[in-house]
Amino acid sequence: MDDTTLLMIPGPTTVPKRVLDAMSQPIINHRGAEYGEFLGETTAMMSEVFQTDNDSYLLTGSGTSAMETAVANIVEKGDKVINIVSGKFGERLQQLTEVFGGESIEITVPWGQAVDPAEVKRVVEENDDAKAVTLVHNESSTAVVNPIKEVGDIMKDYDTLFVVDTVSSLAGDTVKVDDFGLDICLTGSQKCIAAPPGMAAITIGDDAWNVIDNVDSPTYYLNLKKMKKSGDKVPPQTPYTPNVSMTYAMNEALSMVLEEGLDARIKRHHTGAEATRQAAKALGLELFAREGDYSNTLTAIKMPEGVTDDQLRGTMRNKYNIELAGGQDHLKGNIFRIGHMGITGLPELAATFTCLEMTLKEFGFDFDAGAGVAALEDVYLKNA
Ligand SMILES: Cc1ncc(COP(=O)(O)O)c(C=O)c1O
Repeated sequence: MDDTTLLMIPGPTTVPKRVLDAMSQPIINHRGAEYGEFLGETTAMMSEVFQTDNDSYLLTGSGTSAMETAVANIVEKGDKVINIVSGKFGERLQQLTEVFGGESIEITVPWGQAVDPAEVKRVVEENDDAKAVTLVHNESSTAVVNPIKEVGDIMKDYDTLFVVDTVSSLAGDTVKVDDFGLDICLTGSQKCIAAPPGMAAITIGDDAWNVIDNVDSPTYYLNLKKMKKSGDKVPPQTPYTPNVSMTYAMNEALSMVLEEGLDARIKRHHTGAEATRQAAKALGLELFAREGDYSNTLTAIKMPEGVTDDQLRGTMRNKYNIELAGGQDHLKGNIFRIGHMGITGLPELAATFTCLEMTLKEFGFDFDAGAGVAALEDVYLKNA
């Protein structure tokens, strides 16, 4: 990979120069007031993007570190947890539940579909002693968006905590932690926020703190009580040495999110998603997700018959310097995924579809040249 490679994968996404430049600032004392104030400013922006009055914490780790933090600080041996599993990342939250001794009650959702909130209500009602429900907002393995608002509305009637992974949706799709009643919400740096990989964030509501305070968590590095104790200092601190350069990156990336405006940024992501879907259809390609459940930050497309994953993504990579993502687990070779997250917009999508058309033509597919790009333009013109 060189620096002209276009990253059209569902994270990491292209990092704006402003963010890269911010990272090259000198490293300062992480226990000094200057860093503390900067950290406080950054976590306040994080809470603004989460749309919550709760405090947020930055973790030195990828999105999975925040998933583990969420589970490990609430689940004790034998606790029931309802895991909604509709893909790879839902499965990960279930595995974490089991790693920390929880008893997983699985709501199985076919890959490619979103969970039905009525099913969640039925299972929560049947298991009113469950400690938490886990849900991935935007299931990146299948390019499906789950209805966190509707599930959140249901969860408001129960004591069970609602834990939501927004790793591939925050700052690209609607996430309102307080309005939707999300007790714990977590995300990663490298997707819609458009910072480099390596930092995660988590925000915790009062009901979740009541649970956490009464759990003897086996965690050390990912211990939320320690994070809160340090975070409550004035100015705030982190329990252990933070990634100072990544804090600079997150501060700059979150500033860019807020400068653009959350609503405008989400609308831009929606337009990119709609344009991608229309362009794929214009080339005769089939979408993987069920209609109506489409993600707004990435699109999964069925591998066209007669082409292998190696041929399609290999040509895109080797000939055109464009990285697309493949399928995971049983979807390997059956789908490919296009990320349209972060700062990615029409120029990047136009390049991607131009080269995808060239690739498909090379493998003998028949469609009007330019049909995909024309469909993109159409959607962008309608949403201008
Ligand atoms: C929805 C979702 N959750 C969690 C993760 C895990 O994040 P990371 O790979 O940063 O650990 C990902 C990464 O792709 C994701 O898309």
